[in-house]
Amino acid sequence: MPQIKAGIINVTGYIGSELARLLYQHPQVELKSVTGRSAAGQELGDVFPYLGKTRLAIKDQLDSDIDVVFSAMPHKSSVDVVPSLLRKGIKVIDASADFRLKNAGEYPRWYGFNHPSPELLKEAVYGLPELHRDDIASATLIANPGCYSTSAVLALAPVVKEELIYPDMIIDSKSGVSGAGRTPGLTTHYSEANENTCAYSIEGHRHLPEIEQELRELNPEFSLSITFVPHLVPMTRGILSTCYARLRAGKLAEGVKAKGELQQLYREFYRDAPFIQITGKPPQTKHAWGNNFCFIYPTVDLRTGRLIVISCLDNLVKGGAGQAVQNMNLMFNLPETTGLETLAIYP
Ligand SMILES: NC(=O)c1ccc[n+]([C@@H]2O[C@H](COP(=O)([O-])OP(=O)(O)OC[C@H]3O[C@@H](n4cnc5c(N)ncnc54)[C@H](OP(=O)(O)O)[C@@H]3O)[C@@H](O)[C@H]2O)c1
Repeated sequence: MPQIKAGIINVTGYIGSELARLLYQHPQVELKSVTGRSAAGQELGDVFPYLGKTRLAIKDQLDSDIDVVFSAMPHKSSVDVVPSLLRKGIKVIDASADFRLKNAGEYPRWYGFNHPSPELLKEAVYGLPELHRDDIASATLIANPGCYSTSAVLALAPVVKEELIYPDMIIDSKSGVSGAGRTPGLTTHYSEANENTCAYSIEGHRHLPEIEQELRELNPEFSLSITFVPHLVPMTRGILSTCYARLRAGKLAEGVKAKGELQQLYREFYRDAPFIQITGKPPQTKHAWGNNFCFIYPTVDLRTGRLIVISCLDNLVKGGAGQAVQNMNLMFNLPETTGLETLAIYP
């Protein structure tokens, strides 16, 4: 079977290096070329010994003859390189936020720049396969979702679509430190992050507009009101989101039967989604360590009539590089799970 020739821009970050790990092991991919700004000229195995078997050199430009490029650049930088790749007929999967928001007017507020290619926002497909599988299959540009957004949208999509809840929701998320990337910073410094937990971006985190965009698309009549509070916790990988909303009266059976109905609704909603596991007890971030699953536990607080949905995933896999590979599989008409069937390492 012909191999997909893939390239990675910015292999030296956490998403870039995770992409290299996954693509090297993918049976239908030839990882041909990787770039990195500060490490150009070095062997990938010298920068990351665990990737030595790839036998790739880090260059400052991608080779030609590539079918798909994964851009793992920071936001505002990716948008500078993606248009020229598309003009060459190369498919692009962008890990940054540069093509996630449909409304160009949101970029100055949330990302601090005027979008230079607003026409591409219409063309880009938001790469959440569980919601946009068919559009992804025919796309040339994928806006790979944010890690928090993936966990929150997947947790709430069924109840928003079916209007089981009132539109006032709370998303309380915890992330491991790799969510902040490999670039060193004070908040991710060991002595700051270790044995510490803190909330941040309470006034509005950058992932909020894409969460709203995706949930609104599922139910345009629903006037959403979302409070999203992210937290940094001292672990390397993982996101756990606990979502709360008040259930509408009469939508579910009374008492404990409501829990069973809710579980059934989620199982039905995600019946064709191979990476969603609806669980019968609260999932833990370790269940998703290094794999592409999103675990979701929907339940009802019977005392208050409130919905509680807990979702968890690995921010670098289902929240980033793994989801990007899942999107590539769909774009190249491969089974969605190809190269992504690893289970977690536990404990
Ligand atoms: N971390 C996550 O959990 C996660 C999840 C989903 C999506 N994302 C997104 O994926 C992208 C990469 O994230 P990351 O966590 O891998 O970041 P990262 O580990 O901090 O890596 C970013 C790398 O980008 C390079 N860089 C910085 N500015 C650049 C520029 N202007 N042009 C070219 N290269 C530049 C730096 O490499 P040099 O030192 O070589 O310059 C840096 O190592 C971001 O857009 C992020 O929002 C991250």
